[in-house]
Amino acid sequence: TESGCLSIVVLGASGDLAKKKTFPALFNLYRQGFLQSEDVYILGYARTKLSKEGLRDRIREHLKPAKADSTKDPTEVISDFLKLVSYVSGTYDTEEGFLKLNEEIAKYEESKNGAEGPSRRLFYLALPPSVYPIVCKMIRHHCMNQGGGWTRVIVEKPFGKDLTSAEDLSNQLGELFSEEQIYRIDHYLGKELVQNLLVVRFANRLFLPLWNRDNIDNIQIVFREDFGTEGRGGYFDEYGIIRDIIQNHLLQILCLISMEKPVSLYPEHIRDEKVKVLQSVEPIRADDVVLGQYEGYTEDPTVPKDSKTPTFATVVLRINNERWDGVPFILKAGKALNSRKAEIRVQFRDVPGDIFKCNKHGRNEFVIRLQPLEAMYMKLMVKKPGLEMSTTQSELDLSYQQRYQDIAIPEAYERLILDTIRGDQQHFVRRDELKVAWEIFTPLLNRIDNGEIKPCPYTPGSRGPKEADELAARVGYRQTPGYIWIPPSLQ
Ligand code: BG6
Repeated sequence: TESGCLSIVVLGASGDLAKKKTFPALFNLYRQGFLQSEDVYILGYARTKLSKEGLRDRIREHLKPAKADSTKDPTEVISDFLKLVSYVSGTYDTEEGFLKLNEEIAKYEESKNGAEGPSRRLFYLALPPSVYPIVCKMIRHHCMNQGGGWTRVIVEKPFGKDLTSAEDLSNQLGELFSEEQIYRIDHYLGKELVQNLLVVRFANRLFLPLWNRDNIDNIQIVFREDFGTEGRGGYFDEYGIIRDIIQNHLLQILCLISMEKPVSLYPEHIRDEKVKVLQSVEPIRADDVVLGQYEGYTEDPTVPKDSKTPTFATVVLRINNERWDGVPFILKAGKALNSRKAEIRVQFRDVPGDIFKCNKHGRNEFVIRLQPLEAMYMKLMVKKPGLEMSTTQSELDLSYQQRYQDIAIPEAYERLILDTIRGDQQHFVRRDELKVAWEIFTPLLNRIDNGEIKPCPYTPGSRGPKEADELAARVGYRQTPGYIWIPPSLQ
């Protein structure tokens, strides 16, 4: 790990993302000793006229004192952290503010002159993407590190709306920064059980021979939320569920579930494999898509009354390679459904020569629950305990809350910011990866935007449109009759 003073600039400091995610993540890193008071300076930047105390007060509301700080009063830890935070206000498209910003950083770096190692500058863009190009230009021209150390920039989706606009944005940023300086966040890559996928798949002899079309019937990757667009209707309506969730978060999971073993754990080796598997995804067929819109969505005042934007979608992707030919990957995401849950469900084929008549009771399934209550469980048939020789579905269950009682699972943003400081791009989206992701979805999105595929209405709080369940069943997914897994912590 490097030393040398570190300036972290949060642009868009007074916005929602910064308050709810960025600053709390920085605080958690600080609390756990990953950011040391002596060598870190955190600067907020936004248009709002605000004093540094004003910003600190806004941030304070979102910081939770943690029990783990037993040696120190938790509120004291919060005030110590906030002392590191300062603020500069300025516009995004004129140089004035950025010159001021640079001056502030330089002053701090000078005061640390003599610190071990060259100074480091991290810019976190918690901003709408429309201003990415101009802000990046300003940083490039006025705020680059002159001290020999690195300058890195974190950006977050939406990266464009389709292939053309995404490539446009990539070109603009690519002219200003090298790929090594750009960190594209997909916060799903910072989740514990997403990061665990590589280990589970490639460090277990058990799974290696099973992970293919000979044994696996279908794979589902599901995201559900039990609330609607709530105040974000303006943003959401322009993008819809496919751009908001499926093209990025679920597709990233698909990569990790389906890619070949990378040559090594070196980030470029991993990202090479992700790009490769994405390139094998076939064009999406019209009958492999079901869209939905929950009833009442257009009553949101920020949503146009005649909106046809999907708030739910099931899209079946097919990977044309030796390992996966014929296996449907069912990607499903929806707002205003009956639960909040994200999981991966790997369903195995029927047992051949079934002497127990167990196939009709359900198939083996390996389920990875990303949230809430992280868990992995394997559904399998056992003899029903008792005198009779009959079978029943049961499970091998690894529930994290039970198995790792003393471990607090870090927030996605915490990990990803730390990775950026360490210069590890493994869990960030590479430019070519983003491009293929858009190539896969752009033709479908164009058809949706042209009104060629209409969303089916569904009741808020339901499972979504019944057409989606019919599609999953048609491509091969079989529900286990009567089986419900109850996380042990809720039993
Ligand atoms: C964001 C989407 O990327 O992810 C939101 O824009 C969604 O619509 C959120 O609510 C879900 O993230 P998480 O971590 O709560 O599952």
